[in-house]
Amino acid sequence: MSLLAKNKVITETGEYEILLTENFSGLGLELLKIESFTKVFVITEKKIADLYYSELEKELNQVSIQPIPIFIKGKEKNKHISQTYSVYNQLIQNQVDRKSLILALGGGVVGDFAGFIAATILRGIRYVQVPTTLLACVDSSVGGKVAVNADLGKNMIGCFYQPSLVFAPLHTLKTLPKKEWKCGFAEVLKHSLLAGETFFNKLKNITRVNCRKLENLIFYITESVSLKSKIVSEDPKENGKRAILNLGHTMGHAIESYLNYKRLTHGEAVSIGLVTALILSENILGLNPELREEVIWIMKNLSIPYKIKIDSKLALEHMKYDKKNRGDSIQYVLLKALGEATYGNVVHEDEIMKAIEIQKQIK
Ligand code: NAD
Ligand code: GLY
Repeated sequence: MSLLAKNKVITETGEYEILLTENFSGLGLELLKIESFTKVFVITEKKIADLYYSELEKELNQVSIQPIPIFIKGKEKNKHISQTYSVYNQLIQNQVDRKSLILALGGGVVGDFAGFIAATILRGIRYVQVPTTLLACVDSSVGGKVAVNADLGKNMIGCFYQPSLVFAPLHTLKTLPKKEWKCGFAEVLKHSLLAGETFFNKLKNITRVNCRKLENLIFYITESVSLKSKIVSEDPKENGKRAILNLGHTMGHAIESYLNYKRLTHGEAVSIGLVTALILSENILGLNPELREEVIWIMKNLSIPYKIKIDSKLALEHMKYDKKNRGDSIQYVLLKALGEATYGNVVHEDEIMKAIEIQKQIK
C-alpha cells in the first residue's frame, strides 16, 4: 500500500482507522479487513466517477470485489432529503442487505449524503469514506457527522454515525479546482488555531505554491486529522468539547445563509467567520490582536477572503437560525489564546455587530 500516514478514532460504537495514502492502492485489502460484508455500493457523483471510478474499480476487482455504482447529483443544493428517495430505491432494487457496505467517493457533499444513507437504510449499514477534496480529507470524512439539507436549513436532518474506515487517496487532489483548495485551507487554518503553536507556526510560511507540496500537505492533513480524531474520540456526539470544531462557523453559516449558499464556498465563509471570532475573542477574552494579524497574513497569502461587506443587523438575523444556538442566545466558540478555545460563550448582539463593523474596516 502507498501509506503516507495513519490515525485512529475510538468511540463507544467502535474504532476506525484514517489512512492517508498516495492513491487507491491497498484499498481493496483494507476493505477485506472489514468483517464479512456482501456487496459494495459506491455512492459518488458523475464528475468524480469520470475521473476516478475505473481506477477504483480496478483496485477493488483485484481482491474480487465487484462494486455497484450509484450516481448522485453532487452540488450542495442536491445534498437534500429529496434526493435520498431515489438512492434508497436503487439500493433496494440491487438487493441491499444488512451486511452491504457503502463506499462514499467524493467531497463533503457526497460523504455527508452517503453517510446519511448508510445510517438510515435498513436501520444502518456500514460505510467507508474515500474523500477526494482537501476539506473532506481534513474534516468532513472524520467524525461521523452525516446529514442532508431541508428546505429551510443546511444539515438539518442527520445523525452521528461513524464510518468503518476513512481512506484518503491524495492523488485525487491533483484535479481539485482552485476554489476548493481555498475551501480546504480555511478548515486547516481553523484546526491550527485550535491545535496551537507547532501547527500554526508552520502555516506562517505558507504560499500558494508550497501549500500543495506533498510533504506540506501530509503535515496539514495529519495534524488536522489527529486534532479532530482526538476531540471526536473524547466527545463523539458533541455534548461538550467537540463544539470547539465550530470555531468560525457561527458567522460562517450566517454568511452562507445570507448569500443563499451562492458566491462563496463553505470554507470561504468559515474563513471570514474565523476573523469575526478572533475580533470577538480580543474584545471579550482579551486575546492578543497579533494573532489576528498573523491569520490575515496567511489568508492573504492563500487568497482566502477575510472580510465581507455585510449588513451587521442582517448577519445577526441569519445567525439566529444556527442550530447550535440555544433559544434566542447566540453562542460562539472563542479563543483565550492560540490553542486555547472555549465553547458555549453567549455573546451579546451589540458585541457581534461591533465586531462585524471592525472587520469591515480591515485593510
Ligand atoms: P464538495 O463535496 O461540494 O466538493 C467541491 C467540488 O469539488 C464539487 O464540485 C465536486 O464535484 C468537486 N470535486 C470533488 N473532488 C474532486 C476532485 N478530486 N477533483 C476534481 N473535482 C472534485 O465540497 P467539500 O468542500 O468537499 O464539502 C462541503 C460539504 O461538506 C458541505 O456540505 C458541508 O456541510 C460538509 N461538511 C461536513 C462536515 C462533517 O463533519 N460532516 C464538516 C465540514 C463540512
Ligand atoms: N466539522 C465539525 C465537526 O465535525 O464537529
